[in-house]
Amino acid sequence: MLQLESVNTHYGSSHILQGVNMQVNEGEVVCLLGRNGAGKTTTVSSIVGFAPPSSGNITFKGVDITRMPVERRARAGIALVPQGRRVFPMLTVRENLEVGKRPLPGGWDLERVYAMFPRLKERMGNLGSNLSGGEQQMVAIGRALMANPSLILMDEPSEGLAPLIIEEMYRHIEQIARDGTAILLVEHSLDQAIRMASRIYIMNKGSIMFETNDPNELTQETRHRLLGVGHKE
Ligand SMILES: Nc1ncnc2c1ncn2[C@@H]1O[C@H](COP(=O)(O)OP(=O)(O)OP(=O)(O)O)[C@@H](O)[C@H]1O
Ligand SMILES: [Mg+2]
Repeated sequence: MLQLESVNTHYGSSHILQGVNMQVNEGEVVCLLGRNGAGKTTTVSSIVGFAPPSSGNITFKGVDITRMPVERRARAGIALVPQGRRVFPMLTVRENLEVGKRPLPGGWDLERVYAMFPRLKERMGNLGSNLSGGEQQMVAIGRALMANPSLILMDEPSEGLAPLIIEEMYRHIEQIARDGTAILLVEHSLDQAIRMASRIYIMNKGSIMFETNDPNELTQETRHRLLGVGHKE
């Protein structure tokens, strides 16, 4: 469904992504892990079009989207839950949810988002600036769902949230995946993400250093070496 082939992306003269190859199949959950500054967000930005690649190819559903404008990629079915959530502070919850809506018969709408996140229904009139981190993350996910995407890119959805809230968030993410939406999940290294992934990539310095279809292959040693986490005391 989504394919990156030899993708190179620059910010000015900085060569950030260096020949990235990646794939997400229909309905699949793929996890992209990596330390601070590894290039995860740049990968996401290349896919949604904020940072188009300088060379290489990105195809989505068989269409070359490498240089397609951001808005057209969104219409093609790619939605983003951005790092840091980016909820509009001066819009209400409801307005935030409606920003990116792309109605589809039988698809996601306000009622269905409220059914998944009853808390957002209670707070539908509240301003974005008045929400907790967890509530903002619900809004960011709900807003992506309102576009009825076939692929959602989630850039560190657990960042800055308490462990219990992360657990709850991941239950929702699993539900979204079960409903058939493909997900590219970006995290530093998080057990919840790794458990639900059918493929895992680890990025370091703009390149994919490790790839597996079997989460069990992601050993403590590999996590320690490539991610700097998970080492035993
Ligand atoms: N707008 C920009 N202009 C120039 N350099 C940038 C820009 N955004 C990111 N970079 C650089 O690109 C590299 C990759 O950054 P990126 O944000 O993709 O990493 P990341 O893996 O998402 O990190 P984090 O886990 O901290 O979110 C870093 O060295 C960063 O300093
Ligand atoms: Mg990032």
